[in-house]
Amino acid sequence: MAVLEIRKYPDEVLKKKALPLETINGETQRLIDDMVETMYAAPGIGLAAPQVGVSKRIIVIDVSSREEQMPLIVLINPEIEEAGGFVDSEEGCLSIPEFYSSVRRAERVVVKGLDREGKPVRIEACDLLARALQHEIDHLDGVLFVDRLSTIKREFFKKRYLKRTVSATAGVSAGGKI
Ligand code: NI
Repeated sequence: MAVLEIRKYPDEVLKKKALPLETINGETQRLIDDMVETMYAAPGIGLAAPQVGVSKRIIVIDVSSREEQMPLIVLINPEIEEAGGFVDSEEGCLSIPEFYSSVRRAERVVVKGLDREGKPVRIEACDLLARALQHEIDHLDGVLFVDRLSTIKREFFKKRYLKRTVSATAGVSAGGKI
């Protein structure tokens, strides 16, 4: 396994709509293993393939904390089947270091996709896991969490971030970077 380079905003690959996988082979599984290692090394709680420069629909998530151990989730071609409620919470992203902002997301989601072996899976999630799933699936559609901010907040982000003075606004996210 290898730790891959994480692409940072405004890298073009982060804006592209990723392609679904038609076959899952050893190469796919090696990529997944590298993504998992890269996520843990960052450290982050989620990673999408475009964040390592691969425009394919694969995400990995592990929202474990010191208090609670959670399973590693690997999803190929994930799709949100159902979404309900909404909640505002602070978010960060491994591709946008040192910037955090509150984003509105569905409170709970049902997501279907394929696991590392290509077997169909269905995940019912709420709280942080639901947020991470939505954040990572957004990455597959070329959408970053800053795209979901109000126009004023987004303009503020762009000005500050591109001048690399964003650390002045940085906070510590309880949820970790996804
Ligand atoms: Ni992200």
